[in-house]
Amino acid sequence: MKSSRKIPVVTIDGPGGSGKGTVSQLLAARLGWHYLDSGALYRVLGLMAQRCGISLDDEPALCRLAETLKITFVPQADGSPAQVTVDGKDVSNELRTETTGELASRVAVLLAVRTTLLQKQRDFRQNPGLITDGRDMGTTVFPDALLKVFLTASPEVRAERRYKQLKEKGFNANLGLILGEIRHRDARDTGRSVSPLKPADDAWILDCSTLSLTEVVETVSRRLQARLAETQTATR
Ligand code: C5P
Repeated sequence: MKSSRKIPVVTIDGPGGSGKGTVSQLLAARLGWHYLDSGALYRVLGLMAQRCGISLDDEPALCRLAETLKITFVPQADGSPAQVTVDGKDVSNELRTETTGELASRVAVLLAVRTTLLQKQRDFRQNPGLITDGRDMGTTVFPDALLKVFLTASPEVRAERRYKQLKEKGFNANLGLILGEIRHRDARDTGRSVSPLKPADDAWILDCSTLSLTEVVETVSRRLQARLAETQTATR
C-alpha cells in the first residue's frame, strides 16, 4: 500500500451549485488541510481547448493539452472560489461562467481525458490531509477516502445561489437561463457512462436546500471529527 493512502481525504461530491466548493474551502481553511477543486481542472481544459481552437471531441489533442497545462490554485480563506492561474495567467473570472461550465462538462465525458487527469488529482493528497470536491471524488479518484459526502440541493435552490453569486460579482445573469443550464449539465453529468455523477455506495447524502452555509460546514465538520476519532480508536 502506498504511504500517501494513509493521508486522510474528505470527498465532497455533488451537482453544480450545491455549495460544495465553498464548504470544501472553508473546511480546508479551518483544518489547515489542502484543497482540490477538481471541477476547475475540467473548466481550465475546456476553456484552453476553446482558446487554442481544439475541438471538444478531439481526445488525443485534449489529453496532450491536459498534460502540458501548468495550473496553480490559490485558495481563498473566505470560501470564495480559488484564484486559478494557467501558465502564469489569471483565468479565475472566465472559469466561473456558465459557458465554461458547459465546456468543462463536454470534455469531462471523455474517458481518455479523465484518465489523464486522474493522477494529477491524486497528487494533491498531501499531509496533513485533503478536502476535495467534484463529481467522482468518492467513487473513482479517492475510493478509500475517510469521509465521503454527497452534497445536494434542488435545482431551483442551486440556480438561485448561482444567480446571486454572479450578480454579486457584477456579471449579467438570468435566473431562468441559469436553471435551464443547471438542469442540462446535471443530465449530462449524471447520464454519462464514465464516472457519472452519483453518490458512492458509502457516501453520506446531505441535502442542503434548507441549510445555511455555516450549518453545512458545522455538520460536515462534526461528522469528520467523529470519523477521525473512530480511526484513532481503531489504530490504538
Ligand atoms: O464543479 P464544477 O461546476 O466546477 O464542474 C464543472 C464540470 O466539470 C461539471 O459539470 C462536470 O461535467 C465536470 N466535472 C467532472 N468531474 C469532476 C469535477 C467536475 O466531470 N470531478
